[in-house]
Amino acid sequence: MASILSICLLFITVCTAGGFRENVVSRCVFTSPDPKDIEYIYSAYYNKKEYIRFNSTVGKFVGYTEFGVKNAERWNSGPELSNRRAEKERYCDHNVPIWYSTPLITTVEPTVRLHSTTPPAGHHPAMLVCRVYDFYPKQIRVSWTRDGREVTSGVTTTEEMEDGDWFYQAHSDLEYTPRSGEKISCVVEHASLKQPLVVDWEPSMPESERNQIAIGASGLILGLILSLAGFIYYKRKARGRILVPTN
Ligand SMILES: *[C@@H]1O[C@H](CO)[C@@H](O)[C@H](O)[C@H]1NC(C)=O
Repeated sequence: MASILSICLLFITVCTAGGFRENVVSRCVFTSPDPKDIEYIYSAYYNKKEYIRFNSTVGKFVGYTEFGVKNAERWNSGPELSNRRAEKERYCDHNVPIWYSTPLITTVEPTVRLHSTTPPAGHHPAMLVCRVYDFYPKQIRVSWTRDGREVTSGVTTTEEMEDGDWFYQAHSDLEYTPRSGEKISCVVEHASLKQPLVVDWEPSMPESERNQIAIGASGLILGLILSLAGFIYYKRKARGRILVPTN
C-alpha cells in the first residue's frame, strides 16, 4: 500500500515539476433560470494564476497580468468579444433551465419529530426536543412558539450537522415550565417548504384517548362498588337464613 502511494507521489511530482499549465474555465453563475439572473464567466489561467477574465455582466475582458491586460485590449476589439457574448446565450442561457429542473438543485423537506425529555438540573421542570432531519440544502431555521408567540429564552439549537449522505440534521431544545392549556410548537423554515412547517406538541396522549380511559376507569369503579354492595347484601341474607331454627 505504502509503495503504491509513493509511486503515485513520484508520478505527480514528475508530472508537475517544471511543467507549464494553461487552463480555461467557463462558469454559469445563476440564481434563477431567467437569463437576466445568469452570469457567464470565462477565466484563463497560466500556472494556476488567472490572467484574464470575461464577465458577462461587465461585458468585456479584463486582464490581471501584463500579458492579460495586453490580451484583453486586443480581444476587446476583435471577434473574441462577440464570441464570448454569444457564448453566454449558447452555453448558460440554454443549459441553466435544464440544470435548474434536475436534482442538482433539488430541495428535500425535513422530517420533524417532537418528544419530551428530562431537563438538565436547572431552572425548568420540563424540556422538549425538536429533531429535524434528512433535509437539503443545509440552510434552515428552527424556532419555538408558545400560544403562537415565538419563545426566545430556554432555547438551544445545534448547528446543522452533516449526515454524510448529502442530508443534514439539526436539533433544538426548549426548557420550560408547563402551564395548563397552552400550545407549544416547533417551527421549521426551509427552502423546500412553501410555508413554515409547524409541529404542535401533543402531551403523551391525545385528549380523546384520555377521555376514553377516564370513562373506562369510572365504569370499572362503579362495577366494583355494585358488586361489593351485592356481596354484602348476599352475606346478610345468607346469615339470616341460617339463624332460622328448624323444628
Ligand atoms: C461580474 O461582474 C459583476 C459586476 O461588476 C460583479 O458584481 C460580479 O461579482 C462579477 N462576477 C464574478 C464571478 O467575478
